[in-house]
Amino acid sequence: MSIDKIVSLCKRRGFVFQSSEIYGGFGAIYDYGPLGITLKNNISQLWWRDMTQLHENIVGLDSGILMHPKIWEASGHVGAFNDPLVDCKECKSRYRADDLVEKDNKNTEWIKIQCPKCGTTGKLTEPRQFNLMFKTNIGPVEDDSNIAFLRPETAQGIYVNYLLTQNALRLKVPFGIAQIGKAFRNEIVARNFIFRTREFEQMEMQYFVKPGEDDKSLNEWKQKRISFYDQLGLNSSKLRFHEHGKNELAHYAKEAWDIEFEFPFGWSEIEGIHNRTDFDLVQHEKFSGKKMEVFDQQKNERFLPYIIETSAGLNRILLAVLSDAYWEDKDNDRLVMKFHPKIAPVTAVVCPLVKKDGLPEIGRKVMDLLKPHFITIYDQQGSIGKRYYRQDEAGTPFGITIDHQTGEDNSVTLRHRDNQQQDRVDIDQLVKAINDSMENY
Ligand code: GAP
Repeated sequence: MSIDKIVSLCKRRGFVFQSSEIYGGFGAIYDYGPLGITLKNNISQLWWRDMTQLHENIVGLDSGILMHPKIWEASGHVGAFNDPLVDCKECKSRYRADDLVEKDNKNTEWIKIQCPKCGTTGKLTEPRQFNLMFKTNIGPVEDDSNIAFLRPETAQGIYVNYLLTQNALRLKVPFGIAQIGKAFRNEIVARNFIFRTREFEQMEMQYFVKPGEDDKSLNEWKQKRISFYDQLGLNSSKLRFHEHGKNELAHYAKEAWDIEFEFPFGWSEIEGIHNRTDFDLVQHEKFSGKKMEVFDQQKNERFLPYIIETSAGLNRILLAVLSDAYWEDKDNDRLVMKFHPKIAPVTAVVCPLVKKDGLPEIGRKVMDLLKPHFITIYDQQGSIGKRYYRQDEAGTPFGITIDHQTGEDNSVTLRHRDNQQQDRVDIDQLVKAINDSMENY
């Protein structure tokens, strides 16, 4: 299956739009339509619940996108957050050097590598470093004294607030701080739809542990994080770990694992799990001049915790969910988005069979009954078959039809999206029937 099919469905059904489309689009930025934002929120809410509600020692934070520029010097992003770039002198295309090497794994000498676009050999420039952070200025004057960066990761906002958070909540190591928010990177080659974009959302959790307990903690988080994807209904055979080799490790990491998903364009990272040691805290001590240690009451001494980071890309997870859900049901000539009912953007559609005989009025009452429990929409346009197929494409797991029998015995039909089975259910039992079906999905 090609990614183009998903791109087209996303536009047609209001999941994802190209940014600034009427102006011809804008550099690898995407906007989320009504179904896309709900699906994205449903995913991030599950993550937030998993982290902060189900772990007594993990708390939330929302730090600013703009922060003191010294933070990015301390973190190493000013000096080391670079991608090596090469240009083709023939057709002027620009590439990330590592991507070209990956495609042409026999040749690492630029002179021998072929430009993937124009096919010329020997015209690629030597790799040059390019910093991925977006720069801006604070205040009316644009000069070097007031530079600020759009954060390229949410993690630093957690590190610089970690002692305030720890003191305010009297937290004891081990504890974690979770944050969901936008991050920005001036990616050279943004591609594969919402997979690699210049503005994206991260869901990051930084777990502060005693030095020496970091390896064990990393292993625990690896297992917890991979099982999280069950809740989203992702096919487990499409998930795997990839360990970073020595030359892949980010400047801050002692050990790093990616969780990869098998997208239509191949296996690619959706989340990183890193042992960042005390690298970031040491750096912030050095650059801020402030102590970043916590106090160990048992040993009566201060120490710098090690940090295990879980860093997931919300937009990439959304793309994984969209790719995994896409199903061309050829037997029934329909397109179905098989979202897990717990994350589907719409849970139920209420359809009166006809627009007369009092059926719309009953439909409205059923809406009132369901709305407090589920995201429910009302549809009385077109034939019932067409209405169902429209909702199959949007991934709505339940269809409720009000027909003439409803007036007689207070029952409706409850249609299940995947197998199109229809059960007769008493209106008073509808909420329970939907809840049961969601639980057993
Ligand atoms: N704080 C660590 C960190 O930022 P990373 O591996 O660079 O680590 C973490 O990024 C996650 O953020 C990735 O696994 C990916 O899901 C997401 N991500 C990174 N760059 C992205 C981009 N340009 N577009 C969309 N998601 C991105």
